[in-house]
Amino acid sequence: MPSLYWKLAAVVLVVGLTWQPCCCGPLHAQCKVEWYFATSCRAVSDSLVSQIRKWTSMAGCSMGGQKCLYKLRSASTHFVAATHTTPFKGYRDELNFQLTSYNFFTCCHVSAMSVSENWYVVRDQGTNYCNLYNLMEGSGLTEARGYKEVTSDFLCTQRSTANCTVY
Ligand SMILES: *[C@@H]1O[C@H](CO)[C@@H](O)[C@H](O)[C@H]1NC(C)=O
Repeated sequence: MPSLYWKLAAVVLVVGLTWQPCCCGPLHAQCKVEWYFATSCRAVSDSLVSQIRKWTSMAGCSMGGQKCLYKLRSASTHFVAATHTTPFKGYRDELNFQLTSYNFFTCCHVSAMSVSENWYVVRDQGTNYCNLYNLMEGSGLTEARGYKEVTSDFLCTQRSTANCTVY
């Protein structure tokens, strides 16, 4: 059945031409950040969870900004999940933090991800980065021992121009 082979080959060629890996950064608004701390994952998890609880109501945004409308979904030493809703616009972003101990439990590596539920929200002004960063800063973790952040514009939509006071 040579004609079948040709059809198959044509399909493979078309898919190959239209699929462009590693071209333009995240397709929709999202952010992935790696954080490192010289403290235990339990301490990091506790700080994150208590900060999410502090920013549940609308109160934190009465003067503008985005430090409100967080909602805790699940919490443990090694995994924290939450959502953040943009005030007024009502866009919801999914946040999750994976915490891994290393160096005999004295250090913690946090792999954090924020993804906009609305796939069409592409230009997010760094909202997804700020969703994560604001929790880190608010809880004082950015001042914690050994604090280190690894991310990029490729991993986080519009991260370098993000103003987390506003977004
Ligand atoms: C971020 O926005 C705030 C509030 O509008 C402003 O005061 C501040 O200067 C901005 N920061 C940067 C780095 O643009």
